[in-house]
Formats: sequence, C-alpha cells, structure tokens
Amino acid sequence: MSTGWPSDLLSGQVAVVTGGSSGLGRATALRLAEAGVDGVVVADLRREPREGGVPTAEVLTELGVPAIFAQCDVTSVASLRSAVAAAEVMGGVSIMVPAAGILRMEDVLAVTESDYDAMLDVNVKGTFFACQAAARSMVAGGREGVIVTISSVGGVLGSASMPTYNISKGAVRMLTYSLAASLGPHGIRVNAVHPGVVETAMTQVDTHLADEPGTSVPLGRLGVPKDVADAIVYLASPLSAYTTGTSLFVDGGSHSSKAGRDFKPQG
Ligand SMILES: NC(=O)c1ccc[n+]([C@@H]2O[C@H](COP(=O)([O-])OP(=O)(O)OC[C@H]3O[C@@H](n4cnc5c(N)ncnc54)[C@H](O)[C@@H]3O)[C@@H](O)[C@H]2O)c1
Repeated sequence: MSTGWPSDLLSGQVAVVTGGSSGLGRATALRLAEAGVDGVVVADLRREPREGGVPTAEVLTELGVPAIFAQCDVTSVASLRSAVAAAEVMGGVSIMVPAAGILRMEDVLAVTESDYDAMLDVNVKGTFFACQAAARSMVAGGREGVIVTISSVGGVLGSASMPTYNISKGAVRMLTYSLAASLGPHGIRVNAVHPGVVETAMTQVDTHLADEPGTSVPLGRLGVPKDVADAIVYLASPLSAYTTGTSLFVDGGSHSSKAGRDFKPQG
C-alpha cells in the first residue's frame, strides 16, 4: 500500500511554513514538497533543525523543489511580511502553515508578565499575523488559498502544568474559526490541526512530555511529525475543498477518550 501523496496534488501552489526548520514545520515542508508544491519558503529564527540534520531548505533544493530560507521572528509583523514577500519570486503564497511555536511547563502561581507575553507573542500574535500577511498577499494577487494553523489538544483541554500554552492554543483555535469566516468569501480556507504529544524537540528537550510511553493514547503510541504533516497536506489540498473553519485532531484519539482526559503530563 502506498503511503505517499500524488506528486501533482499541490502543483501550482507555493507554501510558506513558519517554524519550518524543525519538528512539525519541517515535516510539513517536506511532505508538501512530496505532494508537488512549486516552492516553499522556510521561515524560522534558525536555519539548523533543532533535532539535527540538514536544513530544510537544503533538503528541498536537493529534492528539486525551489526553496528559500527566510530568517524570521514571528513576533515581528514586519519580519512575517518579509517572509511572505519572499514567496513572490516563486509565484506568491497560496498555502500558509504558521507552525512556529513555543511550549514551557509552568506553575500558574509563578507565571510572570514576561512569561505570559512571550508565550502569546509567539503562539498567538505570530500565528495571527502570519495568516494576515498570507491572506493579504493572496487577495492582492487574486489567488485562492489555504491556511492550516497548529493548535493542540491543549487548545481544548486545560492542564495544571501549561496554563499560558493552553491559553495560546485556545486562541489559535478561535482565530482559525474567525479567519475562516472572514476569508471564505475570498476563496481562502482556514482550518486547524490539533496534535496530541508528538516526538519533537519541543516534547523531548523543552519538556519531557514525550517520556510518557503513549499508553494513555487510545492508538497506543505518541505521534510522529509525519502524522501531523499528512493531516496538513490533506487540509491544504483540494481533497478538503469544502472544509473550512474546523479542527482536525491528530492525537491518536486522546482528546475524545477517558484515557486521553486522564493523561497528566509531568513538568
Ligand atoms: N510537538 C508536539 O507535541 C506538539 C503538539 C501540539 C502542538 N504543537 C505545536 O506545533 C508547532 C510546532 O511544534 P514543534 O513540536 O515542531 O516544535 P519545535 O520546537 O520542534 O519547532 C519549532 C520551530 O519554531 C521555531 N520558532 C520558535 N519561535 C520562533 C519565532 N519567534 N520566530 C520564528 N520561528 C520560531 C523554532 O526555531 C523551531 O524551528 C508549535 O506551534 C507547537 O505548539 C506541537
């Protein structure tokens, strides 16, 4: 059984992926390339993957897919607009995946103002203005397009150990719904994926969420980046042409089961 996407599924499309150097963003950039995008802008603070390996844009170039690395801090609107503008030479953005994000375990009684601002600046402001920059470019260029945001199971379930992260991911879910309502008339679809715990530097280095063996996940394992990337390719593709303003959980069943609700990540 083939587990690949048709190599012309996304032909004619150009993607911008924030956080595209590492983890879910990197896997998404590579999977979008396999599905035939004409080009990818990898927008990130850093070029080197956090998990190690060859930088994403270089891998894409080796695969024969036009790729640009755009140094970008998603907390700066000007930086995001520059990253989107970098896609113009390839035909202009028609797929935006704002995957840059941060996670920190914290005690609600100890959260500082700067902790709070940092979390919401990257995860919420960085997502909103990435979407706005892409949508402006799509509308100005007369292109239909798709945006796939990255919320989390933590965007619908609270937890004791990551309050500001939960707030940020709930906001990403809601901005997705509102942007879908606003941008639908322009032919732009906007959907969110909600991953569970996926093995990346975020869950293996920044936190130890991935140390849980996954036994509380109904499908019995933690996620891998490709699980999420494939859901994003689906939502970016014509296969989901009538789907907008919705949430797709990619979590092995965690959010909807008693086992998932019992999952108590340790900081
Ligand atoms: N890994 C998981 O289990 C999981 C689960 C649910 C949601 N998510 C979300 O998926 C997204 C990607 O997470 P990941 O696990 O791949 O993390 P990661 O740490 O592996 O990669 C995140 C990337 O974002 C970049 N980044 C961080 N801050 C940035 C900034 N200010 N400007 C530009 N780039 C910046 C980093 O340099 C890095 O390359 C995040 O939004 C995260 O919240 C992850």
